[in-house]
Amino acid sequence: MTTRRELCAWGAGSLLLAGLGIRGAVAADTRTLRLSHNLTTAHPVHRAMQQMAERVLALTDDTLKIEIYPNAQLGNQRESVELVQAGILDMAKTNASELEAFDPVFSLLNVPYLFESDEHYDRILEGEIGRDILAASAGRGFRGVTYYDSGARSFYATRPIESPTDLKNAKIRVQPSPTAIEMVELMGASPTPLAFGDLYTALQQGVVDGAENNPTALVTARHGEVAKYFTLDEHTRIPDMLVISEASWQGLSEAHQDALTRAAAESTSTQKAAWQRASEDAVATAKNEMGVEFIEVDKRAFAERTRPIRDRVAAQSPRARQWIEEIEAQA
Ligand code: GCU
Repeated sequence: MTTRRELCAWGAGSLLLAGLGIRGAVAADTRTLRLSHNLTTAHPVHRAMQQMAERVLALTDDTLKIEIYPNAQLGNQRESVELVQAGILDMAKTNASELEAFDPVFSLLNVPYLFESDEHYDRILEGEIGRDILAASAGRGFRGVTYYDSGARSFYATRPIESPTDLKNAKIRVQPSPTAIEMVELMGASPTPLAFGDLYTALQQGVVDGAENNPTALVTARHGEVAKYFTLDEHTRIPDMLVISEASWQGLSEAHQDALTRAAAESTSTQKAAWQRASEDAVATAKNEMGVEFIEVDKRAFAERTRPIRDRVAAQSPRARQWIEEIEAQA
């Protein structure tokens, strides 16, 4: 098992070899890609990536191996993406919220109430806009390989939130995403950026009053043990994203690139069905075994508060405006 310290040492060594121009001589045709993520091994996204790794092996006659490191053992999401960017780590599973701090192109996928239905969301991600966003960050040292469904994100807290008024002055954990911070501020609450792995203790100790995520977080990360109210306001639909270091990608043969692209796409299709089931199971477990109350709300009140974000993101660049207009047209 590689630790974060060993990984950094290994990365520095291989960068040095690459710099000396002798990397190809030691690597031969067999490659191993290390992939870091912060979810548990029971999470449907972890399972999808395992399927991808098995399929890649089969498609490449065992010459391309993906080693998956779950539970943030190689660092939290931000640290993992930084290592990927630097070419020290090959791959990371993150999400479009975390990536916003690395490239504003990801702001689009953080706009609240942008997608009107699951079908609308699927159409956009599987279409040209989704493909453009996967490729857009190549100049920043990494590129998207595929998306995984992560459902809709809603608020959950240690006290009931029935309308935006109940969020006034509440401390809400967010991912370190400028749009998530702005969204929580527009609700009148106080955003607290924290790594996912630090959230359970923060909720338990009252450092924050609540957070926002999909219902699986209640069960896989056990947040339902400490936050007993889940508000179904479904403000965003932010995809999980698998990214690869640009250096690692360019270092793969065309056959390896094709195998990875194909296996990743297949795992995304399988994960979509698995996600639906996992999400329903999480709601049932949270309700029946953890005593979490699910609160139906009038989403319009939440949507109205966050409307300025759509305008702000549209003003970011002509491309962002065009994407938003296209997404609205396809609703
Ligand atoms: C989702 C996502 C994680 C992310 C988490 C978060 O659960 O799958 O990768 O870390 O949101 O809120 O931080």
